[in-house]
This record gives sequence, C-alpha cells and structure tokens, in this order.
Amino acid sequence: MRQRVFSGARPTGRQHIGNYIGAIQNYVKLQEKYDCVYCIVDIHALTTLESTSELQQNIFEMTLDWLAAGIDPKKSIVFVQSHVPEVMELFTLLGMLTPLGWLLRVPTFKEKARMQPQNVNYGLVGYPVLMAADIMLYKSDAVPVGEDQLPHLEMTREIVRRFNFIFGDTFPEPQAKLTNYPLVRGLDGGQKMGKSYNNHIELAATPEETLERVKTAMTDPARQRRNDPGHPEVCNVFSLHHFFNEESTKEIDAQCRVAGIGCVDCKKLLAEGINNALHDFRERRAALEKDPEHIYAILDDGARRAGVIAKQTLAGVKLKMGLTRHA
Ligand code: TRP
Repeated sequence: MRQRVFSGARPTGRQHIGNYIGAIQNYVKLQEKYDCVYCIVDIHALTTLESTSELQQNIFEMTLDWLAAGIDPKKSIVFVQSHVPEVMELFTLLGMLTPLGWLLRVPTFKEKARMQPQNVNYGLVGYPVLMAADIMLYKSDAVPVGEDQLPHLEMTREIVRRFNFIFGDTFPEPQAKLTNYPLVRGLDGGQKMGKSYNNHIELAATPEETLERVKTAMTDPARQRRNDPGHPEVCNVFSLHHFFNEESTKEIDAQCRVAGIGCVDCKKLLAEGINNALHDFRERRAALEKDPEHIYAILDDGARRAGVIAKQTLAGVKLKMGLTRHA
C-alpha cells in the first residue's frame, strides 16, 4: 500500500518560478512514490479575499500551470476544495475538538489579523481547522509544505491525536515533508517571491516578458559600476542561476568576482536559462489552454475520485462521534 500525500494551495492564479521551485516541482516528483491528492483550496482563499470576481479565472490558470508542469491526473487526484463539500462537514465536527486558545496563538492568524483588522472573520480563526479537515478527510500520511505552514501542520497533528484519543484510532498522524527549497527570494532580493509583492516571474510569461522582469531585479548592492568586482553570494540574480543555469554557475561566479561579466549580461544569461528551462512547459500550457472543457473535466474527475474517499472517511467519523446509529 502506497502512502497518501495531500497538499493544498490557494488559487493565486498564474504561478511563478518561486511556486515552481518551492512546491510544484516537488508535487510532480512525489507522484512516483505516493498516492497524491492535490487540492486548490478555494474556501481557504475566502478568508482573505476582498473580491471573488477573479476566483474562477485564478483556479483555471493555476490548474493549467499544475498540469503543464507535470502534475498528472492519471497518477494523482487534482481537484478544487469546494467541489468535495464533505470537507466543510468535517471542518465543523473538528471545530468541536479544537480549543479556541490554540487557534488564537497561531502565528499566521496573528499576522493576518494585523494585516486585515477590518476583516478578522470567524473563518480566519478556523483556517487551521479547515486545513486539518483537508488533510484528515483523505487520511493523509504526509504533507509537503513550506516552512511557514509548519505551525498549521502541528495543529493538524494535535487534532488527530485528540480525535484518536477520544474516539479511537482513526487517522494517521501526518508528517510534514519540507521542500528542498523552502525560500525563493523575489526580484527585489528581499521578500519571498510572491504575487502580492510583485517581485515574481510568471511561469507562463513570454521569453520577452521574462527578460523584462529579470532586468528589474536587484543585484549585489555593493556593485555600482560595470567594472566593480561583484559578490555572487549576496546577489539574488546569482542565486537564481543555481536553478536555471546549473552547469554555468561556477563560471558565472568566477566571472562576476573579477568583473569579467557585468550585471546586464548576467541577467541576460538568467533570462535565457529560465526561458530554456520553461520552453516545453510553455508549449504544453498553451496547448492545454486551448481546451478549457478538458481542464474542467479533469477537475470534475478529481472531485469525483476525492469524493469517494471523503464520503467514506466522513461516514466513519460520524459513526465514531455518535452522530449515526450504524455504519
Ligand atoms: N494553508 C496552506 C497555504 O496557505 C494551504 C493549504 C490548505 C494546505 N489546506 C492544506 C496545505 C492542506 C497543505 C495541506 O499555503
């Protein structure tokens, strides 16, 4: 029996190279050894959205990126969270096992409450419980996450232990699977790469757009003039060469240090590396994009397969919690 992996990601629309390096690439690899369930968490998105007008488009774009990157609906279940409504039932039931004090101490809750003081909604406090419901509904053994999600996963494990203790062994304690590259910095060289900081490069960008974006990147701040020697270890452009120009990083490192190569050329090389690496991805994506019905059929099939597991888990939970008389 293969172990089950579950991961969720918010529908942020077109994915960027940080998403790819930090998460998607890992999702693709895990398919070889695990039964994977990959979920676009639209309900979670509602905890912070001001408007939902782009939600459907964002789900579509993200699905295209996932599929073009190699998430394979024949191997894995790919679906949209709200299409399997059982998660909301389990969320409610798990809410009865989760002390409010735990939730109020979660760092992401405190941060979000600071960022949107006008909208500290009930769902925001319950965010980690909904995430626990995602993971538990599929009796998941392992969860690939970034470091920022570890407190949430710890909460899931607490809820699992509590459930198992009160109602008998039901759920595995899910293990975190940290990605190899938990942090990819954005073009500004400071923050984590993210759409909200506008410091990202979209996977689906054209080669020209990619070059334009790379040109805006911060480099070694101490290197003011073309002939100043550079310091690759503090240069964000250089750190991206590791991913996209692996064979030439040593050479770029050496040339940068003696001012043999300037930042302009270094950026050109990076854009070329990204464009080469993403060439096939972009072709696949363009082909997929032409047939939206095919994409929606994949998501429907994913929801159907996820729904089978979800119904089974939920029936077991209700029985154990005394909500039904018999199985
Ligand atoms: N909280 C995750 C994030 O913001 C998204 C998420 C929702 C998730 N449910 C999940 C991640 C279940 C892993 C497993 O990135």
